[in-house]
Amino acid sequence: MTLPNLTQKVSIAAEITTQAELAEKVYSLSVRAPEIAATAQPGQFVQLRILEPSFTLRRPVGVAAVDKQRGEVTFIYRAIGRGTAALAALMPGESVGVLGPLGHGFGMGYSHPLLVGGGMGLSPLLYVAAAYAGKADVLMGGKTADELFWTELFAPLGGRTFITTDDGSLGTKGFTTTLLPDLLEAKDASYDAVLVCGPEIMMRGVAKIAAAHGLPCEVSLEKRMGCGLGACLSCSIDTAHGRRKVCKDGPVFPAEEVFL
Ligand code: FES
Repeated sequence: MTLPNLTQKVSIAAEITTQAELAEKVYSLSVRAPEIAATAQPGQFVQLRILEPSFTLRRPVGVAAVDKQRGEVTFIYRAIGRGTAALAALMPGESVGVLGPLGHGFGMGYSHPLLVGGGMGLSPLLYVAAAYAGKADVLMGGKTADELFWTELFAPLGGRTFITTDDGSLGTKGFTTTLLPDLLEAKDASYDAVLVCGPEIMMRGVAKIAAAHGLPCEVSLEKRMGCGLGACLSCSIDTAHGRRKVCKDGPVFPAEEVFL
């Protein structure tokens, strides 16, 4: 399995071009960052930092979209603490510190991958779906129909969309793992990989099902991060190949290295 090479990272004060609330406390933030737009791979992330007032803490956020022509990068985040609430208060024209692109992203050499995402894990999968240009389908899961504003974001990217909700208010009732076996066993199924981002319990379940169907599975891990650059060890995990750093060796790993 080939993962993208580590790309050149930059640390810049990027001008905010758009800040929009997509759902309660979920925001889409676009910044002008041509250097990052030019090199960011699907599955990579950046560290965002509030510049005024100066927050020392950086927040890892996955790249949700890039527009190379306009030199813009978009992130989708949930405002859940002091730092992200301050981020949500920033307006177009103001600047935010961006360090990136960081880490290794998803494999881009598959012919027909199935993307599986839950919650905010769907954000980096948007960029994966866009980069696969209609060759990737997506299976998304949420608690209720209210959470699945994501369907509108994935719709223009081509590919088919499958939905599950815990309460059955939209799509199939249950979890992504409820529907996944049917999708992989369908007569016309031709998936050659499963790429996953979401809660760990979901990713473990999806990885097991993918393995049972003999399909490669890549998962994007979320870990508390300090430096984001491989220097502080705060994101270390045990893998089949020894200790690895999520920020530098991941966040995307082959599932069998970290779960099975
Ligand atoms: Fe510092 Fe990964 S966040 S080593």
